[in-house]
Amino acid sequence: MLANARRTHTCGELRAAHEGTTVILQGWTQAVRDAGGVVFLVLRDRHGTTQITIDERSPAGVLQAAKDVHSEYVVEAHGVVQKRAGSANAKMATGEIEVVATSVVILSKTRPLPFPPSDENVDANEETRLKYRYIDLRRPKLQANLALRHKAYMATRTYLDGEGFMEVETPILTKATPEGARDYLVPSRVHAGQWYALPQSPQIFKQILMIAGADRYFQICRCFRDEDLRLDRQPEFTQIDLEISFAVRETVMEVAEGVVRSLWSRCVGYDVPAIPRISYDDAMRRFGVDAPDTRFAMELVELNAAVAGSAFGPVKAALDANGLVKGFVVPGAAEGTSRKALDGYTEFVKAYKLTGLLWGKLDAAGTLTGPLSKLENPAALVSAMGANPGDLLIVAAGNAGHVNPGLGKLRIHVAKERGMVPAGVYSFVWVIDFPMFEKLEAAPGEREWQAMHHPFTSPRPQHMDWLGTDKMADVRADAYDIVCNGSEIGGGSIRIHREEIQQQVFTALGLGPDEQRDKFGFLLDALANGAPPHGGLAFGLDRIIMILTGSESIRDVIAFPKTARAQDLMSGSPSKPDPAALVELHVRNTDTP
Ligand code: AMO
Repeated sequence: MLANARRTHTCGELRAAHEGTTVILQGWTQAVRDAGGVVFLVLRDRHGTTQITIDERSPAGVLQAAKDVHSEYVVEAHGVVQKRAGSANAKMATGEIEVVATSVVILSKTRPLPFPPSDENVDANEETRLKYRYIDLRRPKLQANLALRHKAYMATRTYLDGEGFMEVETPILTKATPEGARDYLVPSRVHAGQWYALPQSPQIFKQILMIAGADRYFQICRCFRDEDLRLDRQPEFTQIDLEISFAVRETVMEVAEGVVRSLWSRCVGYDVPAIPRISYDDAMRRFGVDAPDTRFAMELVELNAAVAGSAFGPVKAALDANGLVKGFVVPGAAEGTSRKALDGYTEFVKAYKLTGLLWGKLDAAGTLTGPLSKLENPAALVSAMGANPGDLLIVAAGNAGHVNPGLGKLRIHVAKERGMVPAGVYSFVWVIDFPMFEKLEAAPGEREWQAMHHPFTSPRPQHMDWLGTDKMADVRADAYDIVCNGSEIGGGSIRIHREEIQQQVFTALGLGPDEQRDKFGFLLDALANGAPPHGGLAFGLDRIIMILTGSESIRDVIAFPKTARAQDLMSGSPSKPDPAALVELHVRNTDTP
């Protein structure tokens, strides 16, 4: 029979009920077992694996053909489905059967593989795996991640379509959108010296779609941000972006919860319960971060009152500087926590500009030992923290801007290290009432404030008079984030829909009239031409897929991800362009004079 005939089944499909059927399978050879007079091939495609058996039941010559097959060769096998002679292989979905081959044809050979595409071998150097991404992607785990991602697209589109949303594409070659990162820029050939920016999000376009009457918009879209990469960040990533006209905060939150519910139920069969809400201020107070991991307790406690008047060096310094003293209790950790582990915690918080940590161990008799015992009134501290005998107390004193994130991240680090994070739990929370502005560490003459969400977010109407005054830090915005297991999976806001308010906010951010017109004139004009009240939100789809698949790295949920240094190792990008192309683009590389 001819090679490359049409396959009759996938490699995951055949069961006992197919016994006696003549089939054609095609796939990669996951395993070859040559037992002399019998050869077993395990063929794999993304649907599963099937055992092909070549033995005395096969026609003459097939055994020899099978002996030429090596691991990961692409093979076509024709044969007849038989129940396995011995007991079924419970590890294979097709384990009840084997296909007794009538022919085996090699469709494609492979060079020696740089690594085997098995989930057991995930420790192979990541650079090699990214360079040969097509081999890595053959791994069942990554195949499953891509399949779940596809399910998530389908669930999103079905749900939002049902809610009256319309998917509209917005430009990739566009103008800068301020979402807080650097832009990727693309030079224009036609307009010398002018550049496009790739969108950090479709923010302005989706607002303009509301002004255009789209009413309910969504898009599964790519966003581009040139920022320092982390395990949950990529330079190009995907959002489920949505916007609603005539919306108040509740409208957007309801729709967003609907998206979350359909994603979790469709993808992992989990019913998301009512999602609690917490204000930004409470999140910072209780967890030190604005994306709290609420899967475990161990909340932070403010201790300024408990240590008031103390002459203990680090505490006094913080109190004198109007700083913050805060801590948390690690239950039952007094005994098992070594000096080395405590030094490790001190090292950990240095990344958040905390220069030190104070700790204390409460022994079985309730006596505090360690640096915190130097406080004049350790009992007041122990009681304020609610510590019990056997507990470890961790305290930081200093600038609130360092104490909160330092302790907040340490809380999560300690919980993970000590196995305090329950498995298989999804803990959602809405964080609401964000500050509108964030103060920058600016030199004199530099811009002092930036928008915490983005500058199109509506300040609370009652705080409008505070714009540009010394109460800028107190202005609250109609902005909300949705958090799952400590990861910000989405964020949005009610927008400014009046030109003069948008101008006031730009002015408060330090943008003069010319800069406003230059950067955002098209938005201001649109706002002046009949803008409905509107609001929306964008989910980080990659982060959602990370949570749904239990992946530690965002790279495991993206088919062709970039490295931490923003490179695509497979295609070798970024790369040097053709010098002639640069000339056409009116650009000169500074490293090639
Ligand atoms: P924001 O900037 O909060 O809001 O982005 C929305 C969500 O996108 C995800 N995200 C990322 N995921 C992977 N890699 C990145 N580099 C990255 N940056 C952000 C996060 C985040 O919650 N236009 C607004 C939304 C709106 O107001 O409607 C916006 O883009 O999960």
